Amino acid sequence: MTIEDIKKELSNVQYPGFTKSIVDFGFVKDVQVNGNACAITLDITSSAPEVEEALRKDIAAKLSGLEVTLNIKKPEAPKQNSNSVSGKNMAPQIKKVVMVSSGKGGVGKSTTTVNLAIAASMQGKRVGILDADIYGPNIPRMMGLNGAEVEVVGNKAKPLNAFGVDVMSMGNLMEEGQALIWRGAMIMKAIQQLLRDILWEELDILFIDMPPGTGDAQLTLAQSVPVSAGVNVTTPQHVALDDSRRSLDMFQKLHIPVAGIVENMSGFICPSCNTESDIFGMGTCDTLADSYNTQVLGNLPIEPAIREGGDAGKPVTYFQPESISAKRYMMAAEKLIAFLDSVDDNISNESIQPTNPPGVSACSTAGASSAAAKPQQTQQSSGGSCGTGCGCH
Ligand SMILES: Nc1ncnc2c1ncn2[C@@H]1O[C@H](COP(=O)(O)OP(=O)(O)OP(=O)(O)O)[C@@H](O)[C@H]1O
Ligand SMILES: [Mg+2]
Repeated sequence: MTIEDIKKELSNVQYPGFTKSIVDFGFVKDVQVNGNACAITLDITSSAPEVEEALRKDIAAKLSGLEVTLNIKKPEAPKQNSNSVSGKNMAPQIKKVVMVSSGKGGVGKSTTTVNLAIAASMQGKRVGILDADIYGPNIPRMMGLNGAEVEVVGNKAKPLNAFGVDVMSMGNLMEEGQALIWRGAMIMKAIQQLLRDILWEELDILFIDMPPGTGDAQLTLAQSVPVSAGVNVTTPQHVALDDSRRSLDMFQKLHIPVAGIVENMSGFICPSCNTESDIFGMGTCDTLADSYNTQVLGNLPIEPAIREGGDAGKPVTYFQPESISAKRYMMAAEKLIAFLDSVDDNISNESIQPTNPPGVSACSTAGASSAAAKPQQTQQSSGGSCGTGCGCH
């Protein structure tokens, strides 16, 4: 075989997860032939071991008649923070994980996740969304990806992409209705699989849309990857704020730095006259934020365009960038990015991970010890119980 013959064969080797070949991508840097032996040098862009493994297999198959020496150069793997519980970070290629949580359901977590993610992407970040709401995955509809087919590469699935944001949701992996059968241990497994068995690219920020409350899903996530920031979403009425405190306490107990609070459904903008009126209240989150030594990332009004965008899979931030809401999401994302920049990359993972052993509720530990580089000092909740149904007594 000549060098040209070998290059021709290599032009049929697809780069894992993409439709283009390693030749099209320009990853083949050198090919040498000596009789029945050849030496190939590749320079690829991913540090993921499964990419190298897949390439080695494919190239060996394509050049099965030759004795192949394959030299694969790849970027240094991102620093693998150790997890205090499992000793592992399941997704080291992701720089910052943001958990979007709330004390109760229906306050706008998924809407906030989608719009903040798009706003961060529009600000130049490489962004993904993981829909960790196993029971009620709404992200596919909100991102216009309902029914979209997931591509499987080897034994892993490739994230979908919409509006420049990578997305994965159980809603895209299962038949409709199947989600109803998920139970405790299965939820934990499913969330870990969504981190480990999805071909997440190297991302600046992965937003995680959580189910409501403070239970297994939140704990599993915090034990599986370092979570750099928590975003609490709440509506402004006092009844909702009480639930919000539980969510903020949970961040504290899981040693997750709180990036801030999104006050959602804060006032109503009338579509006919454009005036803002106070339905659930407005501005009540400032005091809450102060008491947890954090900030309000944004006040999002009740705006029909937000709901319509969610239902139609046309997020307001992307489709109506001039709307008040889109501008507020952009500002909130800017604040969040600034916060993430302030969270030390080299922060010991142990300081943002729960310290209790697997299976033991984080809420059963009385008072979290103060984290090393904790960017905010949160209020200590009373006693050893948070009253959230997360298993503490
Ligand atoms: N600011 C807003 N203005 C108008 N509608 C909104 C606003 N925020 C959210 N909504 C709508 O309210 C509904 C609930 O929002 P969403 O699904 O984001 O809440 P959630 O907290 O994720 O709910 P769950 O707890 O069920 O996951 C959706 O129909 C959404 O479009
Ligand atoms: Mg939701």
